[in-house]
Amino acid sequence: MSQYGVVVVGGGPGGYAATIRCAQKGAKVALIEKNRIGGTCLNVGCIPSKTLLASAQLLLQARDAARMGLELDGTINPNWPKMVARKEAVVNSFVKGLTGLVKKNGITIFEGKGIVTAPGRVTVSGNETVEIEAGKIIIATGSGPIGLPQVPFDNQIIISSTEALSLPAIPKSMVIIGGGVIGCEMASLYAAVGTDVTILEAAPQLLPIEDEWVGKLLEREFKKSGITSRTNCKVTGVKMQPDGATVLTEDGSAVEAEKVLVAVGRKVVCDPETVQALKLKMNGPIISVNEKLQTSAENVYAIGDVIGTTYLAHGAFAEAEVAAANATGGEKTMTQRDYNLIPHAIYSFPEVASIGLNERQCAEQGIETVIGKAPFRTNGRSVSHNEIVGEVRVLCNKADNRIVGVTIVGAVATEMLSAARALIGSTEKIEDICFAHPTVSEVLKDAWEDAYGISLHVLPH
Ligand code: NAI
Repeated sequence: MSQYGVVVVGGGPGGYAATIRCAQKGAKVALIEKNRIGGTCLNVGCIPSKTLLASAQLLLQARDAARMGLELDGTINPNWPKMVARKEAVVNSFVKGLTGLVKKNGITIFEGKGIVTAPGRVTVSGNETVEIEAGKIIIATGSGPIGLPQVPFDNQIIISSTEALSLPAIPKSMVIIGGGVIGCEMASLYAAVGTDVTILEAAPQLLPIEDEWVGKLLEREFKKSGITSRTNCKVTGVKMQPDGATVLTEDGSAVEAEKVLVAVGRKVVCDPETVQALKLKMNGPIISVNEKLQTSAENVYAIGDVIGTTYLAHGAFAEAEVAAANATGGEKTMTQRDYNLIPHAIYSFPEVASIGLNERQCAEQGIETVIGKAPFRTNGRSVSHNEIVGEVRVLCNKADNRIVGVTIVGAVATEMLSAARALIGSTEKIEDICFAHPTVSEVLKDAWEDAYGISLHVLPH
C-alpha cells in the first residue's frame, strides 16, 4: 500500500492549493479527484463565466466604438457557439496547465472518488480501486448549486449556472431566480448578448450581502442595459410550457421565459461515503472545523465550500494555507478577522467589489464611521476610457481613524481590491502616499481623503 504524508480529497482551488503548499513543505502528497482538476471554479464557475463576460464586455465596447471616435464597418454581433468554444478552450488549457503544475510539484494524482475507510486510510474508487495510507487528510470536496423544490431543475429549461455557461444558443428570454452573485453576473452576460432578462430577487435589493446603495446603483445600471430587476419578489412555483416556462411569484404575478436560471445559492457537496467512517461532527451537511480547520477526527482537516464559510475560490485558497501549514507541522489559524478580510468580487456590468466591513456590518457592530466617497466620473483615466459609472466608498472608524472597509462599484472595481486591502487598518497619511496619475485607482485615494475631509478632487459633503 502506498503511503503519503498528506492526502487531499478534491482538486478545486482549496484542494490543489493545499497539495502544492504541503509539497513545498517537503511532504509526500497525493490528490484524489473524481472529475477534472480545478473544481467548480475552473470548470463551471469563475473562469468560464469570466471568459464569456470578457467577450460580452468587448461586444458592448465595440458597439460604443463611435463614441470613442472609431468607425467599425458592418454589424457587431455575438457568435455564441464561438464564444462558448473559446470559453472551453480557455478552461481546457488551464486544466492541462494545472494538472502539469501539480505533477511537477511531485504530487501524485489519483482519478476517482476518495473514501476515507478508517483514520489514516483512504480508498480511491475509480477505474481501479487503490488503497492508500495517509498521515494527514484534507477534505476539500466543494459545493453544488441549490435547487428550489418548487422550481425543480430539468437542466434544459430550468437550469443552474453550470448549464448557463454552455447553452446551445442565446435564449430570447431568461428569468433569473436570485439576484445574488451568480444572478447579477449571468444577467449582465445574457443582456449583453441580446436576451431579455428578468431577475426575481426575494430580498429588498440586488446583492443583499452588499450595502443598500450598491443594490440600488446596480438596479439603475441594469435597467439601462434592459434588465428588469424585481426585488421583494419571492418565487413560489413554475408552470412548464412547450417552449419555456412561466415562473410564478408570491405577489400573484407570472413571468414567461425560454430559460429559467435558478441561482439561489450553493450547497455543500460531501458524498456521505467519503467521510462516514470518521463520524465527523457536522452542522447539517457542513463539516464542522475549529480555527485550525481541524475536523473532529484527529489528523483530518476540511477546507473550502465543504465547511460552509465563504463559498469563494479565494476563501478556499486562504483556508488551504491554514490547513496545509497545520498538516505539515506548522501552526496557523483562520480567525473572524481573516474572514472579514476576504474580498467580494462580482463581475457584473458594472463590477462590484468590497473588502472589510460594510456600512450595515458597522451599524450592527456599533462601529461609528465616517464615510468617504468619490465617483469615477471625476477621474481622468475613467473618463478617458468612457467608464464613468459608479463610485468608491471608504469607511473610516471614528474611534481611531482607521479604515475598516471599502466598497467599489465601477468598471474595474475588482482589480482595485488589492489596493483597497492595503488601506484597511492603515495609519499612513493618505496625502503622503503617491498614486500614479492618471490611474483609475486614484478614486480610492479621493474617497480615502474624503473620509478625512481633505480630498483634492471631491468637495466636502
Ligand atoms: P447568492 O447567495 O449570492 O444569491 C442567491 C440569491 O437568491 C439571494 O439574493 C437570495 O435572496 C435569493 N433567493 C433565494 N431564494 C429565492 C426565491 N425563492 N426567490 C427569489 N430569490 C431567492 O447565491 P448564488 O448567486 O447562487 O451564488 C452561489 C455562491 O457562489 C455564492 O456564495 C457566491 O459567493 C459564489 N459565487 C461567487 C462568484 C464570485 O465571487 N464572483 C461568482 C459566482 C458564484
